[in-house]
Amino acid sequence: MCGIVGYVGDKEASEFLIDGLRRLEYRGYDSAGIAVFDGERINITKKKGRLANLEAVLKEHPLHGHIGVGHTRWATHGQPSDVNSHPHGDCHNHFVVVHNGIIENYMELKKQLIAKGHIFKSETDSEVVAHLAEELDDGDFFSTIRKVTTRITGTYTLLFMNSDFPDTIICTKKSNPLIIGLGKGENFIASDIPAVINKTRRIFIINDNEIAIVKKDKVSVFDAEGLPVSKKVQEVTWTAEAAEKNGYPHFMLKEIYEQPKAVCDTTTIHVDKDGMVCFDNLNWTKADLENIDNILITACGTAYHAGLVAKHYIERFVKIPVEVDIASEYRYRQPLTSERTLCIVVSQSGETLDTLEALKEAKRLGARSIAVTNSIGSSIAREADYTIYTLAGPEIAVASTKAYTTQLVALLLLSLYMGQIKGTIRPELIKDITSALLTLPDKITEVLKEKDHMEKLADSLKDAKDIFYLGRSIDYAIAMEGALKLKEISYIHAEAYAAGELKHGTLALITKETPVIAVATQSHVASKMYSNIQEVRARGAEVIGIGYDDDPELEKYATDTVRIPRVDEFIAPILSVIPMQLLAYFTGIKRENDVDKPRNLAKSVTVE
Ligand code: F6R
Repeated sequence: MCGIVGYVGDKEASEFLIDGLRRLEYRGYDSAGIAVFDGERINITKKKGRLANLEAVLKEHPLHGHIGVGHTRWATHGQPSDVNSHPHGDCHNHFVVVHNGIIENYMELKKQLIAKGHIFKSETDSEVVAHLAEELDDGDFFSTIRKVTTRITGTYTLLFMNSDFPDTIICTKKSNPLIIGLGKGENFIASDIPAVINKTRRIFIINDNEIAIVKKDKVSVFDAEGLPVSKKVQEVTWTAEAAEKNGYPHFMLKEIYEQPKAVCDTTTIHVDKDGMVCFDNLNWTKADLENIDNILITACGTAYHAGLVAKHYIERFVKIPVEVDIASEYRYRQPLTSERTLCIVVSQSGETLDTLEALKEAKRLGARSIAVTNSIGSSIAREADYTIYTLAGPEIAVASTKAYTTQLVALLLLSLYMGQIKGTIRPELIKDITSALLTLPDKITEVLKEKDHMEKLADSLKDAKDIFYLGRSIDYAIAMEGALKLKEISYIHAEAYAAGELKHGTLALITKETPVIAVATQSHVASKMYSNIQEVRARGAEVIGIGYDDDPELEKYATDTVRIPRVDEFIAPILSVIPMQLLAYFTGIKRENDVDKPRNLAKSVTVE
């Protein structure tokens, strides 16, 4: 959701800015731009479209200088165009800004500024910030920016340059991410860690309303009142290679193949030598859990789908009713959350604004909270009472894959842990499931061998207009994730349906033109699922069935079958989703789509 970078040092600023933007392009790719101070003035080059367009212009007309800012945009206000691209300057490029987020009162500010003679070039909310800085300029860069932050409302990460202070970038944030990478004689600013990881592992995470003054050999951080804040240096443990493609044609494929390791890492830190589940410093007692009447899981997109699976886990193992709600809906529906509610939020990025705000609302209503996230030190991790980290490593492709499977692992472990404390699950069953989880990485590797098969099956899907995904029980939740993956990567309309619900209306859409993917891993509904497959076959649909390798029934009903190894039925979703990820990937490739950066989307959605 817009990527931002900044550089102060002795090297050519544009080199880091472009490299950093490339690593952040997953956050938005409608346009890109940089601003560099050349010793006399701040020069801006920006271009609609992918970063490559900007690079082509810079090749012809390079920007030289040792301090600069850059931006890759996911459009909110104003269509993608050269002029709406960031950076934005005031009337004289005296103040230059890059912005991630939404300035909610920009219309009102713009009207006031126009009345004072400011001339605007773009339709964006962001340009207002540069003009406002010019208007409020009191000759002291820091004091001016503090005044700007008191006048704007909304969400933002903002980086400011000022041509009167050619050695300084000032940055601040509210509800959007901002980190500073600490180098030697140079410092780096970015929205996210992958941008700086090949430069430094030492970072500051900037909190809401803090303002940082960044020079090449000094970073000073202040709170909203202007008082100095003492920041702790965080050491990033990812390797630089983890944020690279490592020979894979796309990040998405690489990340699909990283799932054995990601699942292994996420499991092993939470299973003790006796096969029981442990979470550091989560010292819940039976009484704590008996004081929880209901559990709310709230999240967006793929993370929401992980929540739908977790409902099955928790209700079965902890015997507490669970409601799963889309975060953007939860906030605005006057929910019946109370101090007897446990709120679990799930978010790969830890920065999704809808999820963060839903968490804040649940806390406001008295709920205790747990976050499941992949991003250490993220806003959601900091807001929740307790955080469980998925150890998936950086996920760069916009379509989530390894983050999802590790979310399922973390949520399964959490539900086992709660059942263990509450005494609602037998210790033998916990040990059976944890030992199955420990062998799961090998089983995932087995499923990944279906790659060629999935590539071939993608041929049969690539020209479809509509595709249906069916499942019952947990398989329905997985079907939803399969359909989302296909939609976002292939741009084919895909819809997941509870297989038993189809006959209540949607069956009317099934013809020989609508391929069906049917997931059948849950034995208590297997015979019903086979009947539903026959219903769609009878209407002419071709059916790809996903089921266990020792299930003799599935191939009797499906047109083609994709096999996963037999596992505990609660673990099956972590395997059955993988062929669907591959199917989406290859269908997208065959339709010549940019699978890592699907149209209109961005990773880490920090607007409502
Ligand atoms: C789809 C996808 C999105 C995200 C959603 C929430 O592949 O990645 O649906 O799951 O935007 O993002 P996080 O998990 O970062 O909160």
